[in-house]
Amino acid sequence: MALLLKFFRRYFWSHRAALLVGFLCIPLAQGADVWITVLIAGALNQASSASDADYVGQVVLLLLVAAVGHSVFRFFQRWCIVVVSRRVEIELKQRLFDKLSTLDFAFHDQSRSGDVVSRLTSDVENLRMFLGPGLMYTAGAVVIVPISLVLLYRENPTLALTMILPMLGMGLAMKLLSPRLHKHSLAVQESLAEVSHRAQENFGGIRIVKGYHREEEQALRFEHTSNENKENQIELGKARGLTHAAVHGAFDLTFLVILLLGGLAAIQAPARFPVGDLFLFIDLTLKVFWPLIALGWIAGMYPRAVASAQRIEELLSRETQIADPTDARPLPTPTGALRFEGVGFTYAGASRAALAQIDLEVPAGSTLGVVGPTGSGKSTLLSLVGRLYDATEGEVRLDDIPVTDLDLDTLRGTLGYVPQDSFLFSEPYHENVRFGADRELSEAEVTTLLERAEMTDEVAEFPDGSDTLIGERGVTLSGGQRQRTCIARALARDPRVLLLDDCLSAVDTETEKALLGELRSSGEGRTVVVAAHRLTTVSEADEIVVLCQAGSIEARGTHASLLGHSGWYRDTWEQQQRVAALRGEDLRGEDLRGEDLGARQ
Ligand SMILES: Nc1ncnc2c1ncn2[C@@H]1O[C@H](COP(=O)(O)OP(=O)(O)OP(=O)(O)O)[C@@H](O)[C@H]1O
Ligand SMILES: [Mg+2]
Repeated sequence: MALLLKFFRRYFWSHRAALLVGFLCIPLAQGADVWITVLIAGALNQASSASDADYVGQVVLLLLVAAVGHSVFRFFQRWCIVVVSRRVEIELKQRLFDKLSTLDFAFHDQSRSGDVVSRLTSDVENLRMFLGPGLMYTAGAVVIVPISLVLLYRENPTLALTMILPMLGMGLAMKLLSPRLHKHSLAVQESLAEVSHRAQENFGGIRIVKGYHREEEQALRFEHTSNENKENQIELGKARGLTHAAVHGAFDLTFLVILLLGGLAAIQAPARFPVGDLFLFIDLTLKVFWPLIALGWIAGMYPRAVASAQRIEELLSRETQIADPTDARPLPTPTGALRFEGVGFTYAGASRAALAQIDLEVPAGSTLGVVGPTGSGKSTLLSLVGRLYDATEGEVRLDDIPVTDLDLDTLRGTLGYVPQDSFLFSEPYHENVRFGADRELSEAEVTTLLERAEMTDEVAEFPDGSDTLIGERGVTLSGGQRQRTCIARALARDPRVLLLDDCLSAVDTETEKALLGELRSSGEGRTVVVAAHRLTTVSEADEIVVLCQAGSIEARGTHASLLGHSGWYRDTWEQQQRVAALRGEDLRGEDLRGEDLGARQ
C-alpha cells in the first residue's frame, strides 16, 4: 500500500486540482442520484393518497434539477479522474521508455524484450486502473453505501436488516471466489503471452523454420500452447460463471426478501409502509449493490496493482552504470586518437574475462585492424570505445581523455559505429541512412553517402528507389546490402572515429576493396578501427592486432610482418586464400599467389 501511495503522490499529485474537482463531484453526483429516488418515492406515496397538480409540477421540476445535477457531476467526475489517469499513464510509459533507453547493455543483455514490453503496457495499465477508476469507484461506494443503508434503516429497520443477509452472502461468495478468479485470470494472461511469444518467434525465425522444414513441429508446439490457453480460458470461464451466479443469486434473493416482506407490509398496512417506500427499498438496494460488486472487483485488482507497482519501481529505480560524468571534460575539436591502457573487461556474470591487458595506441587518422578467432573479444573491444560497456580494468582514452570523463553526447557524436548484426529499421530506405546524422540531410548528401557505401546502383533498382520500405530488421535486403547500408548510416555523421565490426563479411572482395579505399579517402584523417574475420579486410591497415581466445593481444604488426611472425595469422591467411582461389575470386597477396594457384590445379 505504501508503494501505491508513493506512486499516487509522485504521479497524481501534480494533477491535484483536477482530481479534487473529480472527487468532489462524486458525493454530489451520488447525492443527486439518491435525491431522485427519494423524490420519486415521495411522489408515489403522495400520488396514492391525494392528487395535487401543483405538487406534481413541483416534483417534476425538482426531478429535472436533480437529473441535470446528477448528469453534470457524473460527467465531471469521470472527465477529471479518468482523464488524469490517462495522462499519468502516458507520463509513466514515457518515463519507463526513457529509463529503458538510458539503461546500459548489462541490463538489456539480461532482460527479455517480452518482459520489458509487458512492463510498458500491462503493468502501467494495472496501476492506472487501480489508482484511477479503482479509487473513483471506491470513493463512490464509500459515499452511496452508508447513505443508502441509513435511509433504508430509517424507513424500515427490520426490512433493512433482513436484506443485509443476502448482501453479506454475496460478499462472502466474492471473497471465496476471488482467489480462484485471480489465479485463473493470471494463468490465462501468461498462457496468452506464451501464445503470442510462440507465434512471434516462429514468424521472426520463419527462414530457419522453413529452411529446416520444421513447419509441422512448430505448428504442433503452437497447438500445444494454444490448448493450454484454452484449458485456462475454460477454467476462468467456470470461475466467472460461479461468481456471476453467486452475485446474481444474492441480488435476486435480496429482491425476494424485499418483495416478500415489503410487499406484504405494503398490502397489509399501506399507511405504515406505502408503495413509495417499497420503491425506495428496491431502488436504493440497486444503488448499493453495484458499488459493492465494484468493491469486490477492486479488491481483486489490488494484489495485481501492488505487483505491477513493484515491477515498475524496480525498473525506475535502477541506476545505469553508464552515465554522463558530473564534471564532463570538453572536447571541442576531436582528432580521433585512441588509446587503450591495460584494458580488461569481464561481462556481468561471466566466469572469465572477455578482454585482458589490452595496450594499444591508435594515432588519429590511422587504421587499426582487429582479428582473432571467434569469441576472442573483437566486438567487445570495439564496444568499449563508445562506452556500450565500461572497461572493468584500465582505461580507454579518446584524444588522451578517458572516455568516462566525456559527455556521452560528445563521445558518441565523435564515433560512427557499425555493429556486427547490421540491424535496420522497418522504414523507408533513406530514413535508415539519415538515422545516423545529427542534423537533417539533403537528398544530395544521402546520394553521396550511398555512393561512398557502394550502394547507388542497387538502391536505384529497388521498386521505389531510396523510398522503398525496408522489411522488419532489414529482411528484404541481402546481407551485403544491409551491411553497406549500416556503413552509410555510420558515415552520415561524418565521424572522426569509425568502428566497423566485421561489417564487410557479406560483401564480395572486389566491393570490399573499393569500399575500404573510399572510406579511407573520404574522411580526411579519420581513425578507423575494423574488426574482421576475413583478413583481406585488414591487410592494408596501419597496424593489426591478433587477439587470442583468452582476450589478450597475441601478436601485432602490419600485414607483412604478421605473416612472418604470427602463426595464427599466417595459417588463417593461407587458408582463406586457398578458399578464395577455389571460389575463383581475385587473389591478393603476391607472396601466396603461386602456392595457391598450385593448390587449385
Ligand atoms: N553480452 C554478453 N554477455 C556475456 N558474455 C558475452 C556477451 N557478449 C559476448 N560475450 C562473451 O565474450 C567473449 C567475447 O565475445 P565477442 O563477441 O567480443 O567475440 P568476437 O571476437 O567478436 O567473436 P566473433 O568473431 O564471433 O564476432 C565470448 O566468450 C562471448 O561468449
Ligand atoms: Mg564479434
